[in-house]
Amino acid sequence: MEVCGLDYNPAYQTVLIVDDEERNLKLLEAMLFPLNCRVVTARTGINALEMVRQESPDLILLDIMLPQMDGFEVCRLLKASVETSSIPIVMITALTDPKDRIKGLEAGADDFLSRPVNKVELLVRVRSLLKLKALQDRVKKEDKLRFLGQLAAAAAHEIRNPLAAVRYFVQALAIHHPDDRDYADAVVNEVDRINGIVERMLLLKPKKLALVPGDIGALLHESMSLIDKRLEFSGVNFVMDLDPGLPPVKMDLSQIKQVFLNILINACEAMDGRGNLYITAKHNPEDSSVLICFRDQGHGMSADVLDRVFEPFFTTKAQGTGLGLAVSYQIMKHHGGELIVDSVEGEGTTVVIKFPVSASIASSLKFRDIPSKVCGVAG
Ligand SMILES: Nc1ncnc2c1ncn2[C@@H]1O[C@H](COP(=O)(O)OP(=O)(O)O)[C@@H](O)[C@H]1O
Ligand SMILES: [Mg+2]
Repeated sequence: MEVCGLDYNPAYQTVLIVDDEERNLKLLEAMLFPLNCRVVTARTGINALEMVRQESPDLILLDIMLPQMDGFEVCRLLKASVETSSIPIVMITALTDPKDRIKGLEAGADDFLSRPVNKVELLVRVRSLLKLKALQDRVKKEDKLRFLGQLAAAAAHEIRNPLAAVRYFVQALAIHHPDDRDYADAVVNEVDRINGIVERMLLLKPKKLALVPGDIGALLHESMSLIDKRLEFSGVNFVMDLDPGLPPVKMDLSQIKQVFLNILINACEAMDGRGNLYITAKHNPEDSSVLICFRDQGHGMSADVLDRVFEPFFTTKAQGTGLGLAVSYQIMKHHGGELIVDSVEGEGTTVVIKFPVSASIASSLKFRDIPSKVCGVAG
């Protein structure tokens, strides 16, 4: 199962072992078994470089004595390239030769293991380097998403005013040319469609939240009733299980409704408008967090799609904008919360949103204390 946005788990990482001796490869592979990570192997230096290109490993265990090109040269080449320099390399050296370690350090190796390799030492080193790599990848990804989001929001900002002018002048022209009214209306319709996209692009940038105590159940029901009205989703059966003790949560109601709608629409589309969509909401009294989980029985996603779902404009649909999950992810971030996607291709997708501890106001407030206008959302 692939996960996007969850905490660290080595099961989603790949280790490349490079050794020319089959026995060593097998031994190291067996030693790594408790980590449950994916293992790929190479037996020559050239083959190692090819495997790095093909498999994008998260760590390399590198023997020194290799045919064609030795381990030092492989290490030097990988560390010299921008695409591969962040892959940690652990060199396996002979215990007796300190010169190897110096040469390895010069080549850019991140760590060393001596032969015969000690299993516990191997596991400790590999685990900590894999964890560091996962964190670095996550920071890189967050930076990329923030950058893309800011770029899209800046572009949206520039488009908004000229668009408003186009809309106004087309309507003004239509007054003087009543025969062309239909054309003018068509232009206005298209401009409104672009405006809808522009408004969503603007949500990629943090904007002031109108935080009020919101009722998750009521907001979910309101979002679902909007979906229910769409004929193409009439075969979807919503199976709800809401914790009766759900506390009100501080949120921007219109933004969170947008998040619910984006997730619900994606799920219905993935199920081709029929099947069960399970929705659960739970309150964890221990840390006062609130978790809402949407599980569909749709087509799921491949690992490559899952890796990119939060990128603005990434879509696999002919008519998609690729903004739904990107915007939802940023909205949850702005709320101090999280959005996590978990998917199995061919089986379905689970989207979890988590409101942070501070958002839940269970301890200080009961629903009856909140004015009905901000507590409920219907009407
Ligand atoms: N529930 C889901 N099941 C399968 N794939 C999904 C699901 N939700 C999102 N996706 C994938 O993520 C992509 C991005 O989703 P989104 O940001 O909402 O944009 P859009 O729906 O416009 O394509 C979709 O094109 C689809 O490939
Ligand atoms: Mg969508």
